[in-house]
Amino acid sequence: MLVLGIETTCDETAAAVIAREHDGSGKILSNVVRSQVQEHARFGGVVPEIAARAHVDLLDGIIGRAMQEADTRFDQLSAVAAAAGPGLIGGVIVGLTTAKAIAMVHDTPLIAVNHLEAHALTPRLTSALDFPYCLFLASGGHTQIVAVVGVGEYVRLGTTVDDAIGEAFDKVAKMLGLPYPGGPEVERAATQGDPARFAFPRPMLGRADANFSLSGLKTAVRNEASRLTELTPQDINDLCAGFQAAVLESTADRLSVGLKLFQQRFGPPHALVAAGGVAANQAIRSSLQDVAVKAGTTLIMPPPALCTDNGAMIAWAGAERLALGLTDTMDAPPRARWLLDANAKAPAGYTHTRAGF
Ligand code: KG4
Ligand code: ZN
Repeated sequence: MLVLGIETTCDETAAAVIAREHDGSGKILSNVVRSQVQEHARFGGVVPEIAARAHVDLLDGIIGRAMQEADTRFDQLSAVAAAAGPGLIGGVIVGLTTAKAIAMVHDTPLIAVNHLEAHALTPRLTSALDFPYCLFLASGGHTQIVAVVGVGEYVRLGTTVDDAIGEAFDKVAKMLGLPYPGGPEVERAATQGDPARFAFPRPMLGRADANFSLSGLKTAVRNEASRLTELTPQDINDLCAGFQAAVLESTADRLSVGLKLFQQRFGPPHALVAAGGVAANQAIRSSLQDVAVKAGTTLIMPPPALCTDNGAMIAWAGAERLALGLTDTMDAPPRARWLLDANAKAPAGYTHTRAGF
């Protein structure tokens, strides 16, 4: 089975070709990712309209390269898959419409993939992992704990009630004058700082649900920063260290509750899987390792290039769906919001967050 995957939901323009064997194993034949970080850096964040235009300019060339590197012709494809959401709608439209055009011209099945489902299924491409397992997805747009029970069967166990973790790193970086994207900058500064100098809150600690909250912590960092009249490099390092320590403690607590909820409903998970750009953070990685060991499971992290947005994960999710006969029609809609778990509701008291409600 040969599947082309297209990803355009945020600021990466990406395409890949993967092969899926009868035994369910997968192979990446090509995986081309063009990050638009340069285009957005001077605005301190992703600008949706610039992203959509860049996808229009770049996507044809990226798909061409992915097909060429995989030495594959369009008429050899078993299907074409595109991320149909959730994400920035302009970009989603570009990717999905392109996939529809290819599907129509080459009379190939179309698969409209949920971007979060693609993150959720990636570890089955890189390791022979059986269902069920627990996914911790932490990126600039998403912070979720999800029970991955089967293809198309996802139960959200926890989510953020306000900002995503990566978003909080980016906002803290911005308020301290560090460049975008802020996650790696904050991590670097934190290694030089004193995590105990500022007493930041540990959001949601000890709560029985597995939800996250980042905006109070972010405000606490802003308040401390504005109390200091002039920020010295050491102040910045200490603020970053204090912020990151609070995120680590809160995340470890939220995940251990999430793993307990998992165990109660589905029995022991085959693994704790971490994905999303935030999983690149070394301090977070080692804290996740501890959480997994304490819960009696193992931590799996796909290689960084497959944890962040890419086309191979979309192609793989497409292949997993195609193997079950799950294809889509030409009227598959692009979606800005698209819950992975159809039964999930916003946590009580919250009606809307950036994170996907
Ligand atoms: O998964 P990703 O590449 O893109 C999406 O958001 O979909 O994640 C990017 C996010 C950004 O918010 C970035 O600041 C954060 O991941 N990030 C990090 C680190 N590297 C990237 N956050 C904390 N520590 C890092 N080392
Ligand atoms: Zn993503």
